[in-house]
Amino acid sequence: MDWGIQNRLNRLIQKDGKALFLPIDHGYFQGPTRKLEKPGETIKPLVPYADAVMMTRGVLRNCVDPSIEKPIILRVSGGNSVVGDDLSNEEQMTSITEILRLNASAVSMSIYVGGKYEHQTLKSFSRLVDQCEDYGIPTMAVTAVGRELEKRTARYLGLCSRIAAELGARVVKTYYCEEDFAKVVDGCPVPVVIAGGPKVDTALEVFEFVYDGMQCGAIGVNLGRNIWQHQYPVAVMRGIRGIIHENLTAKEAQQLFEEVKSGKA
Ligand code: 5RP
Repeated sequence: MDWGIQNRLNRLIQKDGKALFLPIDHGYFQGPTRKLEKPGETIKPLVPYADAVMMTRGVLRNCVDPSIEKPIILRVSGGNSVVGDDLSNEEQMTSITEILRLNASAVSMSIYVGGKYEHQTLKSFSRLVDQCEDYGIPTMAVTAVGRELEKRTARYLGLCSRIAAELGARVVKTYYCEEDFAKVVDGCPVPVVIAGGPKVDTALEVFEFVYDGMQCGAIGVNLGRNIWQHQYPVAVMRGIRGIIHENLTAKEAQQLFEEVKSGKA
């Protein structure tokens, strides 16, 4: 692998082969998402526990201090919105020059396999891979489902993840599914990170799916709302970090969560 791309990947994926990415890119189609009204404030206490932070160029420029030491995964696709006709109508919105100018360590783009604009998103992703590989920048494909959350079966996620890797993704971000998630990971020749999805009821549920996903071979997570929409975001973040980098079980992560929450850790 070329030195530059390997170096950037090493900044994202830690020495233990694992990674905790913190996404705050939701506004690019959702507007001021709850708890992301002021993204710079939201992430301040969380950044120390993240291995990388994912966002758009607008939030990066306006809300994040350039002295940030964590690598940035730049969300470079868009063109859709929650009030628009079809969420899959997305393509590359940020140029390679801008990606370089902002010193992104990686870029991310959604692909919508089976969506109305499947071909457009796959083509746009392939072009992005070509541009980024020229400059040693890793691409992370996001296997997006839009509003159709019920699509998240192992068969479908396995299909999307494999297609993303075949098109050149260096990392694939996909959803966790309870049944056969190991098959999704096994069928994908590049590292897989788990996306969170809408907020679940308890921190323990998050710890359980993160733990199970890691046991199935995922290298980490790219998890947003279940962290920063929680009442105790730092405690959730530390529990997840414990599972990813310290081999904690879900139960142990819950104990750590309780300790952080009550100020004991
Ligand atoms: C939204 C994204 C997010 O990065 C991704 O969905 C992870 O965030 P969450 O855990 O909140 O689902 O791609 O566009």
